[in-house]
Amino acid sequence: MLRVQNLYAEYPHSQLGHVLENVSFTANDGERIALLGANGAGKSTLLLSMLGVLPIHAGSVEICGVRLEKATLTQVRARTGLVFQNPDDQLFMSTVWEDVLFGPLNYGMNKTDEGISLENKANFLLDSLGIGHLKDRMSHKLSGGEKRLAALASVLIMEPQVLLLDEPTAFLDPRGKRALTTILTGLPQTMLIATHDIPFVETLTSRAIVLCKGVIRADGPTTTILRNETLLAESGL
Ligand SMILES: Nc1ncnc2c1ncn2[C@@H]1O[C@H](COP(=O)(O)OP(=O)(O)OP(=O)(O)O)[C@@H](O)[C@H]1O
Ligand SMILES: [Mg+2]
Repeated sequence: MLRVQNLYAEYPHSQLGHVLENVSFTANDGERIALLGANGAGKSTLLLSMLGVLPIHAGSVEICGVRLEKATLTQVRARTGLVFQNPDDQLFMSTVWEDVLFGPLNYGMNKTDEGISLENKANFLLDSLGIGHLKDRMSHKLSGGEKRLAALASVLIMEPQVLLLDEPTAFLDPRGKRALTTILTGLPQTMLIATHDIPFVETLTSRAIVLCKGVIRADGPTTTILRNETLLAESGL
């Protein structure tokens, strides 16, 4: 389970003040939730605060029964995979292959939960995402969509219990988007997906949370939210 309670966040040394205000929601195991909102609404900020990348100003985050604190940061991050909005924040090794294996090796994983070797899992994931041919390429010299898929592979291989995805379909061509949709649909994890991609949200999520200027404006079934034109217009969508 994922629980965010009365969360306030602000950026250090910023004049803006709170960019998240009193944000609360609970996600059940296996729930896939869309996080919608105009540019600057606070979607990325929420995902970053949930992993302590941006320190929480007030309120609490609890992931799989562990409350996010300085002392539990490693534990929370081991259970939670965050795919950053900008893939350049995720890829830092020299090749795609090294980037994909970095997390598991760093956490001392040598087999996946199903007992498959890391190499087999990495090959399988890269092939499923349609980027098997890129594994020996330099990560920072890939195209935008290729980087996005490599970043996704580097997180999915960790088999985190919770997935936080920031604009996962940005830069993807229709084929890449279909591959990603198929993979995510087949995964049991709880997911929070910040996106502007409405068809993707309709296929993948059953619930949507709308952020407006750092405040939760609506939280309900995706179909109901997407039909509410007044709400969407007032939230800048
Ligand atoms: N590093 C930063 N320092 C100061 N303010 C920031 C920083 N990053 C974002 N902000 C501000 O915080 C607010 C929320 O930004 P955030 O990136 O969370 O929006 P978003 O909903 O993810 O938008 P987008 O759809 O463009 O990705 C915005 O007003 C933004 O200008
Ligand atoms: Mg963002």
